[in-house]
Amino acid sequence: MNHRKPIIIGNWKMHTTLADAMVLTESFLHGLERIEGVDVIICPPFIWLYPVKEALGGGGPENLQLGAQNVFTEEDGAYTGEISIGMLKGLVRHVIVGHSERRYKIGQGESDEMINKKLKLVLAHGLHPILCVGERVRQVKRGRGRPRLEHGKDIVEQLKAGLLGVEPGEINRVVIAYEPVWAIGTGDPATGEYANNEIKRLRDALGKWYGSEIAENTRIVYGGSTDSENAPEFLDQPEVDGLLPGGSSLKASEFILMCKEAATAKKVAV
Ligand code: PGA
Repeated sequence: MNHRKPIIIGNWKMHTTLADAMVLTESFLHGLERIEGVDVIICPPFIWLYPVKEALGGGGPENLQLGAQNVFTEEDGAYTGEISIGMLKGLVRHVIVGHSERRYKIGQGESDEMINKKLKLVLAHGLHPILCVGERVRQVKRGRGRPRLEHGKDIVEQLKAGLLGVEPGEINRVVIAYEPVWAIGTGDPATGEYANNEIKRLRDALGKWYGSEIAENTRIVYGGSTDSENAPEFLDQPEVDGLLPGGSSLKASEFILMCKEAATAKKVAV
């Protein structure tokens, strides 16, 4: 039995046409109708958020919520092409911040400071941030002890920087996604045990900063080349509260199966 409700977050990235988005939404509406005990978030590209929201129409399962893939750091102003938190409010419940593709791949890359600013903006507007952290290079275990970090910022430091200035009372709205960069979109996922250990380190850090009750109640998911086949390996781990699939969130049957697997593996204690 688990006391944290599992959560599956589908990140569509810059994929789908409007027609694809509508077909996926319809499939999820039907496929998730009878699945209980898991929160499902889909994060379509900004431009499909409104039509997807319309397609969900209030008749969608309570468990199916919308998320945005990003938000800009400022609330308003001359920032051509950016999307503000005010524009997302009323449209989505969750906002991904600090995805590694934004940290390392797009434009100049986002700094920890920017990500922290975005996270606080999302919280200030009553929405739920999904904070992504992950090391860039696979950690290699040499001899005994913890795997050594080969290069890049440790995930606990990333978490600390992302949560800077966040009050204990706000943490219950934050979902954390542990996404090792080397596992994203590579078809080379971490193992369940590896993810569990890293997530445990994040949870222990939360415990140190915010107390054990908050740490125990915070949901931390794994992302990076997950699919319906490897999902149970992660979901069976005690520290892993769900998944953040990218590629497999675009295949309706795959995604729905992963949601079912999460609901089954993590029955919530009442
Ligand atoms: P992937 O993406 O499942 O395609 O590896 C995960 C992510 O980027 O969040």
